[in-house]
Amino acid sequence: MRVIVCENAQEVAKEAAKIFAAQVYMKPNSVLGLATGSTPVGMYKILADMNKNGEISFKDCKSFNLDEYYPLAPTHDQSYRYFMNVNFFDHIDIDKANTRVPDGLAEDPAAMGAEYDAAIDAAGGVDIQVLGIGQNGHIAFNEPDEKLVAGTHLTSLTESTINANARFFEKKEDVPTQAVTMGMASIMKAKTIILLATGKAKHDAVKELLDDKITTSNPATLLKLHPNTIIIADKDAYNG
Ligand code: PGA
Repeated sequence: MRVIVCENAQEVAKEAAKIFAAQVYMKPNSVLGLATGSTPVGMYKILADMNKNGEISFKDCKSFNLDEYYPLAPTHDQSYRYFMNVNFFDHIDIDKANTRVPDGLAEDPAAMGAEYDAAIDAAGGVDIQVLGIGQNGHIAFNEPDEKLVAGTHLTSLTESTINANARFFEKKEDVPTQAVTMGMASIMKAKTIILLATGKAKHDAVKELLDDKITTSNPATLLKLHPNTIIIADKDAYNG
């Protein structure tokens, strides 16, 4: 694992955008693994500006997002499909038909998950996967547990995640208690992974990620088994 420590969140966004843009520049038809949450928003903004300035193009890229609340319609303003449109896709030249987010309304989430993983494989696999990290060490919605799941699946959110995400909803009771998420193997198959972490609230999770423990109680620690993961953290997340 390579670790890049930055002064602040804006510098994290810049470093992440540099690596992400390099991937797209080197391979214009890259398969992008994308994440929602507040952390990658700065990176998306920089990439959208680069696209606008003609420095990079996403027109031949495909994308797969990590997760979606369940059940939630893609048109809901807290859905991750909506988030991606507003924060990234509406501002770049990607063909939206080539952007996928797990279906938060799937009648059969297991079948949807299997099809989603197959679609990623059929596209050639994810070239670069962006990840945030939960305060509890989750990646996507793979929550700390005794067992982790390999493929895209339906899961329940922990109290910690519901509390952390309540800020986006009118009230905590409105936060969906379930989600469909790419699994640990779906994520670990990506050729390059960049994990972004900012703020003191992430320090405990990041600290475990940087020590030598690998545990399902902090799913992010499994990234130590991945051959090409880059952690980009600001000083608050790194030092506490
Ligand atoms: P955040 O979420 O970027 O909003 O902090 C990250 C995550 O929960 O994975």
